[in-house]
Amino acid sequence: MKIINTIKEMQEIADSYRKEGKTIACVPTMGYLHEGHLSLIEYADANSDIVVTTLFVNPLQFAPGEDFEKYPRDIDSDFNKAEKSGSDYLFMPNTKDMYSPAFQTNVQVTGITTKFEGEFRPGHFDGVATVVNKLFNAVKPHFAVFGRKDYQQTLLIKQMTADLNMDIDIVVRPTIREEDGLAKSSRNVYLSDEEREKATILYKALKATEQLMLSGERERSVINRKLNDVLMSISGIVIDYAAAAVANNLDEPEFFADGDGIVLLIALHLGKTRLIDNLIVKL
Ligand code: PAJ
Repeated sequence: MKIINTIKEMQEIADSYRKEGKTIACVPTMGYLHEGHLSLIEYADANSDIVVTTLFVNPLQFAPGEDFEKYPRDIDSDFNKAEKSGSDYLFMPNTKDMYSPAFQTNVQVTGITTKFEGEFRPGHFDGVATVVNKLFNAVKPHFAVFGRKDYQQTLLIKQMTADLNMDIDIVVRPTIREEDGLAKSSRNVYLSDEEREKATILYKALKATEQLMLSGERERSVINRKLNDVLMSISGIVIDYAAAAVANNLDEPEFFADGDGIVLLIALHLGKTRLIDNLIVKL
């Protein structure tokens, strides 16, 4: 695997593969790679000629006071894991190359980004949309692979590529979990042993609420109460949101309809760590 540090070199490499008729896949990441990321790289490898994994901790998507400075980093380990999983290039642009002092563009998707994560992390999705746009323009992929773990982010990327006529297919892959159900996340390293134990409540709450829905419950307020009640059974948790919405547009009707895909979305703070998770329930 080759490391590429400049946007220009990345574009030249992409152009030459495109000229040869090769398919390029892009897997955007912020590094500290775990099996969730690697599953995306493996999918990309199995379905393309050239896999470009991008590694860039994007300052634009962190608000002041969030964990940008202490976001975990381990380049050597990331290199080995990405290479083993089938990545051909690791694109690691430096911040100055990505955001020159003269930078003055903001890509903003409205609608679906205004609630849930958008409400609790103002500016976050603008940062994501802007950086993913820039990464796509550097890597020039035919398709890009994202994880369902960041459910609202996948809706945003699909909306953006459709709205802006970007000729890039967006593939969404399932969430990879630890054995006890906790979704793999670079941020799980922040958890103390006790918090790690408590963190299993997210998946338990999702599964318990899914059960309630599969047994016939359709009223959104009842579904939301169940999700919140299970989470609140654990001390030390502060919930940002725990809510059900129509999966493809995040609408929140009073009652869900049979045949709807529903997404259960959770974001909460456990000590100093913010965790998110979600589950799609097919009614
Ligand atoms: P990051 O959090 O590093 O995640 C990179 C990709 O890995 C995202 O598509 C995310 O959904 C996926 N992912 C994370 N945990 C996963 C898991 N347990 N199972 C499956 N996939 C998982 O998401 C970002 O970075 C950034 O916002 C980015 C898109 C790179 C823009 O900066």
